[in-house]
Amino acid sequence: MCKYILSIDQGTTSSRAILYTKDAEVFGTAQQTFPQHFVQNGWVEHDPVDIWQTVFASVKNVLAQQRVTAADIIAIGIANQRETTLVWSKKTGQPIYNAIVWQDRRTSQYCDSLRDAGHSKIVNDKTGLLLDPYFSATKIRWILDNVTGAKEQAQAGELAFGTVDTYLLWQLTDGKVHKTDATNASRTLLFNIHQQCWDEDLLALFDIPASMLPEVMDSAADFGVTSSELFGGEIPINGIAGDQQAALIGQACFEEGMAKSTYGTGCFLMLNTGDKALKSNNRLLTTIAYRLNGKPTYAIEGSIFMAGATMQWIVEGLKLLESAGESEALVKGVPLDHGVFLVPSFTGLGAPYWDANARGAILGLTRDSGISTIVAAALQSVGYQTKDLQKAMEGDGLRPSILRVDGGMANNNWAMEFLANILGASVERPTLTETTSLGVAYLAGLQSGVYESTAQLATMWRCDRRFEPTMSSFERNDLYAKWLHCIAQVTLANN
Ligand code: G3P
Repeated sequence: MCKYILSIDQGTTSSRAILYTKDAEVFGTAQQTFPQHFVQNGWVEHDPVDIWQTVFASVKNVLAQQRVTAADIIAIGIANQRETTLVWSKKTGQPIYNAIVWQDRRTSQYCDSLRDAGHSKIVNDKTGLLLDPYFSATKIRWILDNVTGAKEQAQAGELAFGTVDTYLLWQLTDGKVHKTDATNASRTLLFNIHQQCWDEDLLALFDIPASMLPEVMDSAADFGVTSSELFGGEIPINGIAGDQQAALIGQACFEEGMAKSTYGTGCFLMLNTGDKALKSNNRLLTTIAYRLNGKPTYAIEGSIFMAGATMQWIVEGLKLLESAGESEALVKGVPLDHGVFLVPSFTGLGAPYWDANARGAILGLTRDSGISTIVAAALQSVGYQTKDLQKAMEGDGLRPSILRVDGGMANNNWAMEFLANILGASVERPTLTETTSLGVAYLAGLQSGVYESTAQLATMWRCDRRFEPTMSSFERNDLYAKWLHCIAQVTLANN
């Protein structure tokens, strides 16, 4: 009898495969990291072979480690780094260029020109997104314009576009399936989130042939079965969601007003707005949280590009620590008002600033600033940026009824205490912080009949720790005012 749900979590820096029992307990995990290619200033690429091979090896490894066969797996769920753009030949399955990663800023001038030409409103009205290099459409355009022969091949219907979920689905089904789910489609700048379809006006604006696009499905759906040679038998693929939406589902934020903040490579705060696609006046995004039984649930999202990636830079770039896990012990005892601020705009600033040209800075250094102060400033930058998002949401009249945190950095108690303090709000951490993979296990489980409803899933959420604010509002306001001053300086310096 089938016993497990297999989640694939293809993230920005690593691929993971996680086996879940029907009770949503982790039964086994395998993970592989892969290289980042910083080709030029502001460019970030992944080799598609690395993406696929690390996923394939992680699945093989977790099955072997736990002595599980394809016949033991009920279904697969796929969560993925969103917006990252791949274009491949429908005939050979070969990508015609590297994956252009969501962090990549190469199309910022193209975005500027579209904004100057007055296209911002129509794009925002239809997609809920902004004209920023973050999203897929301008990356597709760049590939078509810069790879020899690509434009002609695209016009002849020979090329396929996909975000990472679509590319993995293509690989897993040996080129039989070209599909995506509504959450991933909603990050492309090509999907009309109100009408739930690829938008002809936007395809014309970005000059992208409709024949390149995948079919858009619900997040829990029959996406096909794995080709039997891969894992020794066919396994149904029954759930797909962009990783941030998957985390919202894994955190069981199914009620309007519930929010989660995920601290992975970046930080993404998402607030469930139910069946209403609310429009932000503060440069937050409107996006699809999930689509079940043909019915979309919407969310407001604030996206920050550098959270865990800042700690990765501290560890691998500056070599100040052996691992990010050491940071909590190191910063214990560092006063919160030490005066040093790290603005991690290495690849520009995301919400609510959307400044593609900003670059990172450390401000306020003195002779007694040491490693612990810089590490504390790096951890605090994540709290301050979340505060920026909270402020923007408040400007839109939204205040989360619950804020649940997850992702690697959520395990850092010092950082989470600071977060609760700077937000002036309680923050809840679940027992299982791997909510991304859990979210797509839930989707696959819903489709395959393991779970009955989102209401049932909500009863399965468990709190590990609740962080309450203890900071005075005077101190909070003072620290935050200084942060805003630093942001202004960084923005001025690079524009
Ligand atoms: O929008 C980008 C996001 O999906 C990346 O997530 O977990 O790789 O930081 P992560």
